[in-house]
Parts: sequence; C-alpha cells; structure tokens
Amino acid sequence: MKRGDELEGRIEDLAVEGKSVARVDGFVVFVRGGVPGDTVRMRIRSVKRNFAEADLLSLAFPSPRRAEPRCRYFGTCGGCTWQNIGYDSQLEFKRRHVADALARLGGFPSIAVPPPLAMADPWFYRNKMEFSFGERWLTDAEMTQLPPERNQGGGVNDPALGLHLPGRYDRILDLHECWLQSEASARIVNLVRDFCTGGNIPVFSTVTQSGYLRNLVIRESKRTGERMVNLVTRDDRPDVMTALTARLLAEFPSLTTIVNNITERRSQVAVGERERVYHGTGTITEKIGERTYRISANSFFQTNTDQAERLYDTALRFAHMRRGDVVYDLYSGTGTIALHVAAGAARVFGIESVAQAVEDARENAESNGVLNCVFLLGDLKETLLASRRAEEPLPPPDVVIVDPPRAGMHEKVAREIVSLAPRTIVYVSCNPSTQARDLKIMCESGRYSIDSIQPVDMFPHTQHIENVVGLINSLQ
Ligand SMILES: C[S@@+](CC[C@H](N)C(=O)[O-])C[C@H]1O[C@@H](n2cnc3c(N)ncnc32)[C@H](O)[C@@H]1O
Repeated sequence: MKRGDELEGRIEDLAVEGKSVARVDGFVVFVRGGVPGDTVRMRIRSVKRNFAEADLLSLAFPSPRRAEPRCRYFGTCGGCTWQNIGYDSQLEFKRRHVADALARLGGFPSIAVPPPLAMADPWFYRNKMEFSFGERWLTDAEMTQLPPERNQGGGVNDPALGLHLPGRYDRILDLHECWLQSEASARIVNLVRDFCTGGNIPVFSTVTQSGYLRNLVIRESKRTGERMVNLVTRDDRPDVMTALTARLLAEFPSLTTIVNNITERRSQVAVGERERVYHGTGTITEKIGERTYRISANSFFQTNTDQAERLYDTALRFAHMRRGDVVYDLYSGTGTIALHVAAGAARVFGIESVAQAVEDARENAESNGVLNCVFLLGDLKETLLASRRAEEPLPPPDVVIVDPPRAGMHEKVAREIVSLAPRTIVYVSCNPSTQARDLKIMCESGRYSIDSIQPVDMFPHTQHIENVVGLINSLQ
C-alpha cells in the first residue's frame, strides 16, 4: 500500500474525531466520514508502520446505519462528527464503547451495559455555544467557486464568525446555521456578523495580537427561555457595544442580558478579566430539578440541561440514599450534584479545586435555601486526607459521588475513597476509559462491586458519552 493508491474496503468500526476504521488485507486504514457497514472507495493519503490514512472518494454500498446529515457544514465543521449516522446507531456505538472500556481497561468483561438514556429530540440541545471571530475557511463547495488568486491555502482573508476547523486554530468556518443550540442563536450570530463586518470592526489576530473581536458566546436557558449574549473583545469600546446592544434589542427584544468580556490574553479562551454589562443583570437563570441556578458569562454549567437532569437523577438513584446519610460530592464544580441530592441527605460536603466554582456553589446553595451543603476548596489529592486528619474532621461518608474531569481520578484519590468505606460510591464520568481504569482500582480489594450502570447521551451527533456507575460495599 502506498500514497495515492485507490482501493475499495469495508468500514468495520468507528474511531475518534469523525474517523472510521477499514481493514484492507488485515491492515488498518482510518477513513474520515465512513460509517460501519459501508463499502467505500478510498484514496490512501499516508502510510505508517501500523496503519494508513485515506480520503473517502465514493460509497460503493452505503451502510444501513447511515443518515442524511441535516447541517450543510457537516464534514467541514468540527462541531458534530456523527450526523451521518442514524441516532439509534449512534446510541448503540456509544453503548459498545462503554462496554469495551469496562472489559478492556476495567477487567469487567461480563457487565451488561444498557442503551444510553437518549434524547427524545436530539437537536438544538446545547444551552451554551462559543463562536470565534477569525479568518474565513471555505467549505469544499465554496472553494470550487473561488477564483484561484483568492485562495489562501484553503481560505480567504475575510473576517468570519463561527467555529474553528478541527485541528486548525487559525481558520474559522463562517456559520450561518447550526443545529446544536437554537434557530434564534443562529440568527444572533448572523446579526452580530453583519453588524461587525458592516462597521469594519477589526477581528483580533493571535499572530499580531491586534484587533478587537474575539468571541461571541450565547447562553440560553432551556427551562426559563432567558438568553445572554456575551461579546468577548480585546479592548473596552463602549461605542461599539452600545450600538450593538441597540441593534440586538431591536431585533431580539426578549434578550435577557448583554455583556462584554474584555481580555488581552494571548490564548484563545473566551473569558474576560473584566466584564461590562450593557443590558439586564449580567446573568440568566436555569433550572435543574427543583433547583434554580444563576449563571453568569464565565460560570461553568452543564451544557445540556435536559440530559444533565437525567444524569443527576441517575446518580441519585444509584446512591441508594437513606435518611440521615452523610454524602460527599467530589469534584463538585458549582455544586449542582450536591444540591440535587441534598433533600435526601443529612449533610452534603462538596470538594472542588476552582475557587470561583466553590463560590458559585455556595451562592447556589444560598439562593435555593439549601442549608445542609458545605463546599470546601482544595485539590482532592491533599484535601481528602487532610479533611480526615483535621482537628475537626469531616464526618465519614455513607455515600460518595464523584464526577472528575476527563483525565479521571488520581490513583491516590481512588484508594482514599475506598478507605473511607462508604456504603455506596457513584462514579459519574465523561470518559469511559479513565472511568474503567479507576473502577478497577476501586474494586480490586474485593470490598466494592458494580451494582448499576447507565450511560446518558449528553452530546448527540458527537462521539462523547457520559456514564454513571454505582458501586456497593459488600462488607456493609
Ligand atoms: C466534570 S466537572 C464536574 C462538575 C459538576 N459535578 C457538574 O456536574 O457540574 C469536574 C470538576 O472537577 C474539578 N477538579 C478537577 N481536578 C480536581 C482536583 N484535583 N481536585 C478537586 N477538584 C478538581 C474541576 O474544576 C471541575 O469543576
């Protein structure tokens, strides 16, 4: 096999980042855009020792698992990677991914994994979208209409507002529609783009560190209908913001709040060191279960409200809580899990390493009138042990709920939790691989075993899956 070869092959599996796996005479070939069950014609782009990469040329036989992508940018945009796969099949691939991780990395080969909790309507589900300003990238169709002299290595040097190309931090796909947030959100993007290009307002460049426009972040509450527009810029220009606010409110009078985050940072994080509020209070409110949350431009909040509620309900169910229980919510973020389970517990202790999140958690508890939650700031590697050795140690937990980041838990933390000997442990994870690794550590003493498992589909049309596992202490 060599570069440029054109071959036919059958797609057998899915890999990460929208790639699929074919085997040609036993050799693995990664093909972008293939769906398991397809027979495709492909052209080899590169050959390494153990695998090759190929471009899909045409479908000889399409897989029955295929679906027609709804979005015209599918295939170029990095937002959705699985729109070409039917939703039922997406769920089945995610279920298998969880089962494989538990078998291969956790040493749990015979665990039955149920289908993920699916969304009734898997479109327009995000409550937050972060768009970027930058130089414009073109879709393949746009490229064919472009005079060659305008082509700057796959794009044009015109300003754009949309999403980054996968793996390209210098180019932006100019989005006029998006199926992830809401139709109103796409109309806001288009209005802001028109306003900015019409006024010749300069786009920030990470190369020259000059220019004004950096990001547009839209947050909308799925339960209250409130909506926030946050323009992230390099400088403070009240003239621009005042005019943009007037234009936005003329078109969208129901916008709840409009803010401007200002940052001179070199990195492309859409968070300002300073914030100015141009309309409303600078916050919106969202509801999960019985609780109401005030969300500001820079607060962390689960991006799929409906599925977050089902995720937390699942965690609560797996915890088998009893009246009088002490619960630890570890990696507690802004306290949403702690507050979700608080009514059934005597006391809840949240531990989290980001100071702002701990502050938000305390505020969330107060504004919801919840009095039995305490939030502690600290890195779990040290704090868990320190909290036991303190002069006034935390009461030992009956239930521990963990929700770590993608990297999973530090081994020390996993062992520490086991030594606390809670009656149940609930592990909420956005990465089945690290979750399986950590579960292996927690179950190896023989004290804990898997009692329940439920994946939850938080991100339809992407490869991501959230998984909840309940462990029970067999010595209690
Ligand atoms: C997946 S989020 C969970 C947030 C929360 N449970 C929720 O549902 O919104 C993981 C959280 O763990 C925190 N975190 C990461 N490493 C940590 C550590 N070593 N100690 C304590 N918290 C940590 C992060 O700041 C983040 O808020």
